[in-house]
Amino acid sequence: MILTNNLTVNEQRHLAVGGADTVELAERFGTPLYVMDEAMIRKACRQFKQSIDTYYGGRGLPHYASKAFCCKEMCRIIADEGLGLDVVSMGELYTAMSVGFPAQDIGFHGNNKTEEELRYALECGVGHIIVDNLTELDTLNALAGEMGKNARIMFRVKPGIEAHTHEFIMTGQIDSKFGLALENGEAMEAVKRALSMEHVTLGGLHCHIGSQIFDIDPFVMAADVMLHFIADIKAQTGYAVEELNLGGGFGIKYTQEENPVEYDQYMRKVSDKVKADCQALGIDQPFIVIEPGRSIAGPAGLTLYRVGSVKEIPGVRTYVSIDGGMTDNPRYALYQSRYEAVCANKADAPRDQIITLAGKCCESGDLIGKDMPLQKTEPGDVVAVLATGAYNYSMASNYNRATKPAVVMVKDGEARLIVKRETPEDLIRNDL
Ligand code: LLP
Repeated sequence: MILTNNLTVNEQRHLAVGGADTVELAERFGTPLYVMDEAMIRKACRQFKQSIDTYYGGRGLPHYASKAFCCKEMCRIIADEGLGLDVVSMGELYTAMSVGFPAQDIGFHGNNKTEEELRYALECGVGHIIVDNLTELDTLNALAGEMGKNARIMFRVKPGIEAHTHEFIMTGQIDSKFGLALENGEAMEAVKRALSMEHVTLGGLHCHIGSQIFDIDPFVMAADVMLHFIADIKAQTGYAVEELNLGGGFGIKYTQEENPVEYDQYMRKVSDKVKADCQALGIDQPFIVIEPGRSIAGPAGLTLYRVGSVKEIPGVRTYVSIDGGMTDNPRYALYQSRYEAVCANKADAPRDQIITLAGKCCESGDLIGKDMPLQKTEPGDVVAVLATGAYNYSMASNYNRATKPAVVMVKDGEARLIVKRETPEDLIRNDL
């Protein structure tokens, strides 16, 4: 297995994704090219839903975190799978609404939503606006009053657990730009204020502890903290919180060495904790929302590039330069993220070279990765970088006036264009 079991090598010795030949895709649609596998996306959606059915009696819903990869077709697929959606900007919400995504299943996030965004969310009738701070609460109450609406909200709470990849910490959480702190009474104050407001209805609480997390314990601990807070709210105000949104953050396999746990193990352990806590604390079991982003879109995607030059610097390193780079995948430049790459037109050959995959931007840090194993490549070869479905297209930029690549969706060996490649005319469209 190359990384995920939807990747195979076909008779032409080419890398295939979801049955489609990647070398043919590169020729037909041009490079750089993002390729998404619809079956993988749908499978991940179903796994998350199924885990809630199995372990929590179906009293919950996954909301896909659209920041991972957002376009009209992705929103259509998510709606078709019956998942909700996490949006964090007017742009993401607009995209969802443009394909008729059910607004009641949308949660609108953000630590500094503008008035324009809040108005738009109210107009659309989103299921919940996840309120980050007291200023936002007051603004929202006023806006909803003015618009003759009632805003259904959740509060973003800092549970005091911060987890990133393999580590998590339980202190210092107060120092975060997101949400309301528990330890200084800020979150409780917000709850009480919301309960006294005329144009706001408190529906639940939300927390999110980080991203690309492999360990289940911090998720369980976050749920525990939130349930204790729900019990405190009930004791102090009599109000029973109906819904608990536990955020996203489930880690994916970027490299052969990484081994994320099965996602249903997460739901099994978290459900056990929720049920046990609710019984011990004498509170009702809340409806549970989870917000997977990377784990739905990430493994389903790869990026195809054409090799331009190969620069061997004896005793130093070999740079393989491709026709994209940090403009379509800024994750190495930002986080030193690691990826696996495969030479798509000789996919069965051993990856016995150690190379640095370099982009075409005018910047030394513009790399896709350093010291990566790859087949011996030559100019004209097609290189596939794997597991790029999340936080690649969505974080792409026009630096150096690069045009954003096209996105194709593959299903049953057939490919269809879902996002057109940008053109130079697109780049000057707003220039005056
Ligand atoms: N819910 C909330 C409130 C979030 O802030 C996030 C991610 C998610 C859900 C989805 O998390 P996921 O399941 O995708 O880990 N650009 C970074 C990732 C930033 C994640 C921000 N929040 C990267 O490329 O690794």
